Amino acid sequence: MTSVDANVSVVDELVGQLAELRREGEAAVGGASSAQELESLRVEYLGRKGRLTSILRRLGELGPGERPAVGAEANRVKDALSALLDERAAGFAAGADAGPRVDLTLPGRHRWKGGVHPVTQVVDEICEIFRDLGFTRVGGPEVETTEYNFTKLNTPLDHPAADMHDTFYLADGIVLRTHTSPVQARVMEAFKPPIRVVVPGTVYRRDPFDASHAPGFEQLEGLAVDEGITFADFKATITAFVHRFFGGAVPVRFRPSFFPFTEPSAEVDVRCQICGGSGCPACKHTGWMEIMGSGMVHPNVFTACGYDPERYTGYAFGMGPGRIAMQRYGVTDIRMWYEDDMRFLGQFT
Ligand code: DAH
Repeated sequence: MTSVDANVSVVDELVGQLAELRREGEAAVGGASSAQELESLRVEYLGRKGRLTSILRRLGELGPGERPAVGAEANRVKDALSALLDERAAGFAAGADAGPRVDLTLPGRHRWKGGVHPVTQVVDEICEIFRDLGFTRVGGPEVETTEYNFTKLNTPLDHPAADMHDTFYLADGIVLRTHTSPVQARVMEAFKPPIRVVVPGTVYRRDPFDASHAPGFEQLEGLAVDEGITFADFKATITAFVHRFFGGAVPVRFRPSFFPFTEPSAEVDVRCQICGGSGCPACKHTGWMEIMGSGMVHPNVFTACGYDPERYTGYAFGMGPGRIAMQRYGVTDIRMWYEDDMRFLGQFT
């Protein structure tokens, strides 16, 4: 009886020690911070002279019927600790939690930030200046009828501009607008004078995609109509705009030109922004840069839109914000605006 009792208590004791060994071992292995530390824990717990071995040495104190159960428990503890040691050792080998291997001197990763396209920035800036001069920003359709794109603008369909070579026809009488000028007619038909609008938007032409042409590009139209508007109002308004947009008292000149929808017509030039007037390839050595077509609205346009040309006068202008942005930033290839190359466009945000 006594020996049985004594053995039962030894069994309990050894099983208790095994459980404690497992608990401590798991905690120690889980908290190890290097591969070397893991190795010394392996020796301490599972080595030939380790803690598990010293428990197993006491198996001899047990009877033959009691040994297998305690031995099996000892094996489970050994397998569990050994698996955990292997797992953590593999983690260190892969560098998964290798501690201070982070290079704190590396620059941080920048968050990608969107921005407004440089041509759109120019459009917004132009519209803001004209807003201060009393102009409202409006839009119009990119798919137009030949009537609005040409006919109402005093441009007969046999005019070269209406030719298939210059215009994208979508169907008979339906085109991708070749300019923003048709919005002049749409605004005049929708509203009574006085009118002061600016109309930014994309226009389309069957042009090659090369350094100075794109088949789709931005335009910005302007229109002012009222009783008594004169060429002097036109010159003063455009000059005020140019001075505000290009800065200071930059020289401006009005050159006679021709457009079917204006009479008289003028092209507006500003002092070349790149060479300052001395002549360079960008201004073709003239010292001037053309920034817009313009003129006094042709009476036939008023008539086509239901305005009395005896009562109303006005001026109109059309510019290319893409070209103006090129001049401003010294960009020599218009395709740069349209290639979506963030290394280039990112410089303007
Ligand atoms: N629509 C013309 C073009 O695309 C530009 C233009 C010229 C617009 C004179 C105007 C204007 O309003 O008066 O080339």
